[in-house]
Amino acid sequence: AGKSTVSITVVGASGDLAKKKIFPALFALYYEDCLPEDLDVKFFLSKTYNDLLPSKWSDNLLLLLVSALYYLWENCSEKMEQFLNRCFYHSGQYDSQQNFVELDKKLKEHEAGRVANRLFYLSIPPNIFVDAVKCASLSASAANGWTRVIVEKPFGRDSESSAALTRALKQYLAEDQIFRIDHYLGKELVENLSVLRFSNLIFEPLWSRQYIRNVQLIFSEDFGTEGRGGYFDHYGIIRDIMQNHLLQILALFAMETPVSLDAEDIRNEKVKVLRSMKPLRIDDVVIGQYKSHTKGGVSYPGYTDDKTVPKDSLTPTFAAAALFIDNARWDGVPFLMKAGKALHNRRAEIRVQFRHVPGNLYNRNFGTDLDRATNELVIRVQPDEAIYLKINNKVPGLGMRLDRSNLNLLYKARYSKEIPDAYERLLLDAVEGERRLFIRSDELDAAWSLFTPVLKELEEKKIIPEYYPYGSRGPVGAHYLAARYNVKWGDIG
Ligand code: BG6
Repeated sequence: AGKSTVSITVVGASGDLAKKKIFPALFALYYEDCLPEDLDVKFFLSKTYNDLLPSKWSDNLLLLLVSALYYLWENCSEKMEQFLNRCFYHSGQYDSQQNFVELDKKLKEHEAGRVANRLFYLSIPPNIFVDAVKCASLSASAANGWTRVIVEKPFGRDSESSAALTRALKQYLAEDQIFRIDHYLGKELVENLSVLRFSNLIFEPLWSRQYIRNVQLIFSEDFGTEGRGGYFDHYGIIRDIMQNHLLQILALFAMETPVSLDAEDIRNEKVKVLRSMKPLRIDDVVIGQYKSHTKGGVSYPGYTDDKTVPKDSLTPTFAAAALFIDNARWDGVPFLMKAGKALHNRRAEIRVQFRHVPGNLYNRNFGTDLDRATNELVIRVQPDEAIYLKINNKVPGLGMRLDRSNLNLLYKARYSKEIPDAYERLLLDAVEGERRLFIRSDELDAAWSLFTPVLKELEEKKIIPEYYPYGSRGPVGAHYLAARYNVKWGDIG
């Protein structure tokens, strides 16, 4: 039987994402022998002439750079060498068909008449996606295996530009060839959400408006836009984090039981949830922007101190929002999102606050604040991955005093194996043609329709963000927003 080959071409090999995420992930997969054995994987690196690296750099230099700087694994020099032997460097422009013809020739040499499968990872700015896809597809001569293309957000800035991008890509690719990455879907605890819900008896029956008071999706980073101000200012935190990462988590959290674990079945359920949601209203969103702050003699820059950001920028670096799902399961339950840069910590988590226990015999133990007595399930996506459930417990002793304690599943304590990076899982899935963790175009459309109206309104009305000091807990407006729905953020206090 004819052997098949897979080549992975990283288009944009000297970019930040390639260096920080894609190469390390590829090497880790190779190191762990995760790439299919019967496949002959070749990695092609491709870049433009006007990139950061001088174009005269030879293959070896680029490869050395890759290995030396970005993956300092211990005791892996042999594997590293084998890995590097499979890497080829091809220099050229993304929008030059001639360049892709040459790449095609090189790929052919390696494929040597076998079934040829090609995976392209477009690690390039979105305004050149379409040109690169066009050149790649026009120049590929009759690939007899599959061709897949991984693309990374931003997928436009709103419904219209996203739809235009999809239309343009679909001139050259079928939907099932487009692998849209949302790397949060590759995170261990996000993948585990469905396991938690659907393979335990005790959660799913409680997973509705009947028992859940509110759900909180929280993302915070303790650094600013350092170095990425140019990109960020064009998008802002709602597009950068909420419309994709947090909304994807919400969809997995709230979807109905899928018919099976097949990609289409899961994505059908996700898109149903998204389409059952009301577009975010401007009254249900609070925006913020960080300003400079001096702490312990160190001064931290404000967002607009970044040279690549206009001085009068109103782009939000923080946002809090309340969203609702109009279906039988979730009617009236607020889903609160909060995302911000330059806050006091780095964390991503899901918090599920359950309702008060009715007629609780022990209510008097909590004084007037029954919120303090409700069960809360926390899924900490990062760092220190964990799932814990806050329960009320009797403090041991002769009296009758209750306190809240945690049933705690701390990954570090429970599992010794390191958790793979999201990009490892996603790259492997793309090689294997597993689409479950990639975003289908109807999901993308639905996601944009929830945020496009409010984004337009914020921008047209030039709404001024609430300023918050670098390293703080963000604008106080987030608390007022939550309070309107009788909610307290679970991550505070
Ligand atoms: C990216 C955003 O999608 O996710 C960045 O563009 C953000 O602004 C990053 O910093 C966070 O990813 P992670 O995996 O470090 O939490």
